[in-house]
Amino acid sequence: MSSQEKIKQLIDKREESKLGGGIKRIDAQHKRGKYTARERIDMLLDEGSFEEFDMFVSHRCNNFGMEQTKFLGDGVVTGHGTIDGRVVYVFSQDFTVFGGSLSETFANKICKVMDQAMKVGAPIIGINDSGGARIQEGVNSLAGYAEIFQRNIMASGVIPQISAIFGPCAGGAVYSPALTDAVIMSEENSYMFVTGPRVTKSVTGEDITVEQLGGPEVHGKKSGVAHYIARDEEEGIMLIRKFLSYFPQNNLEDPPVYETKDAIDRKEDELNEIIPENPNQAYDIKDIIHLIVDDNEFLEMHRNYAMNIVVGFATFNGVPVGIVANQPNFMAGVLDIDASRKAARFVRLCDCFNIPLVTLVDVPGFLPGSSQEYGGIITHGAKLMFAYGEATVPKVTVTIRKSYGGAHDVMSCKQLRGDINYAWPTAEIAVMGASGAIEVLEGTILRSMDNDEERAAYIAKKEKEYKDKFANPYEAAKFGYIDDVIEPRNTRFRIIRALQTLATKKDTNPPKKHSNIPL
Ligand code: HXC
Repeated sequence: MSSQEKIKQLIDKREESKLGGGIKRIDAQHKRGKYTARERIDMLLDEGSFEEFDMFVSHRCNNFGMEQTKFLGDGVVTGHGTIDGRVVYVFSQDFTVFGGSLSETFANKICKVMDQAMKVGAPIIGINDSGGARIQEGVNSLAGYAEIFQRNIMASGVIPQISAIFGPCAGGAVYSPALTDAVIMSEENSYMFVTGPRVTKSVTGEDITVEQLGGPEVHGKKSGVAHYIARDEEEGIMLIRKFLSYFPQNNLEDPPVYETKDAIDRKEDELNEIIPENPNQAYDIKDIIHLIVDDNEFLEMHRNYAMNIVVGFATFNGVPVGIVANQPNFMAGVLDIDASRKAARFVRLCDCFNIPLVTLVDVPGFLPGSSQEYGGIITHGAKLMFAYGEATVPKVTVTIRKSYGGAHDVMSCKQLRGDINYAWPTAEIAVMGASGAIEVLEGTILRSMDNDEERAAYIAKKEKEYKDKFANPYEAAKFGYIDDVIEPRNTRFRIIRALQTLATKKDTNPPKKHSNIPL
């Protein structure tokens, strides 16, 4: 073969590999409203930056006549490129080849980019669209999955790992996304479950559809498995890019700092009026977040799951931060099991990637009741406390209104190594709310009263005394638990100053193999 023929052979092989399972299957993919593995990579990465690996790999299986059917690339497209000029590694499962099912060589390709991402210290993004373990390959496929899981585990907290689900993701295949930092599902065509509807029916008798069992609605709202639900694949890809913009390349670096035209001393008079006179009236904490961050831009995570707490990313004077905020607009912002788990994981995500934490507190306490106690609110609440107490990133806390009981301690209080703790004049920091406190303190007297009017008047008098004493930030400030009481309209400036001051903060945890967080 002449060198010209050899070059032609290379070009032909490349073209063959790029077609994956062939034109017919690509058309079928498009008909379903799905992009192909390569189209997704093209949308994700900076134009022209993709460098592909292993496009000539094919499977080694001889079972069930498989040796007759081979596709170059074997069902997954892998390589590296850039997002906003920064290196990322990527793998994108190709449903047109054996339904994107995972073979031994398919797994090897993924492991290769994961290993290199770790060596280089760059994020890894996985796009999932697969029928799971390649059935013809038997245990080799299971072993391949486990190789990937082990790498997910080792990479956790070292490089950002993101999973997009743009098609099926079933059986054990769900565990790789579950081990990563963020799971993004598209509203159309995506689903995730450990056991599908048919097996579910045969084992438990439950009749349930794919969507009801593991569609985006389920994982975005009920289970919390998915952090983002995208309208479509385009939005999902945009979310990956945006999410990464808040992250450093790896745990040894700081997040990038951006130029901003938003003045650091922008005052927001609206904030001085935002808290309703009636302490039991709700307001939207996201209004406060939007007013204080750069350019009103807030990338919320887990938007529809445990909505009583809000978590997400923003920048202050161009510096990325993670924001954790109780949401009075939903269940009065109470902390329950789901909210504790959601926030705890978020705090740890920020801490492992050196992203400072800003916490906005308006929490009436932990949700009482048997369902919460039986569900282990003690353990789950402890997760959030553990996460804050273990975190070494700069931590700035602003108490907006209520901060009661155990929830006060949990929400990044001074003693959990909160670095700078501010409060608004509207803050109420106490062991519990007035009505609960009077029930306890005055219970004996109240039970002895049989005149309802007299009883109500007595309660009102005692509650007023209690509120005058505790429903303010000054009791806590008196002891130095609050560093300063700030005017609400200055909140942006005070947070930015705090973050600037803390930029060189050093804090450590004692040497240990690892902590034993109450999982
Ligand atoms: C081999 C597979 C495959 C698989 C699909 N295909 N899944 N080949 N192994 N797991 C092939 C099909 O034979 C078909 O080939 C092509 O991919 C497209 O599949 P269709 O069924 O035609 O597509 P669709 O109707 O869209 O259905 C998609 C699907 C279905 C819902 C994903 O294919 C399906 O149920 N697949 C099996 C899912 C599954 O049970 N996987 C194992 C899970 S257990 P042709 O040649 O006709 O185009 C698991 C364990 C992992 O994953 C454990 C890790 C710890």
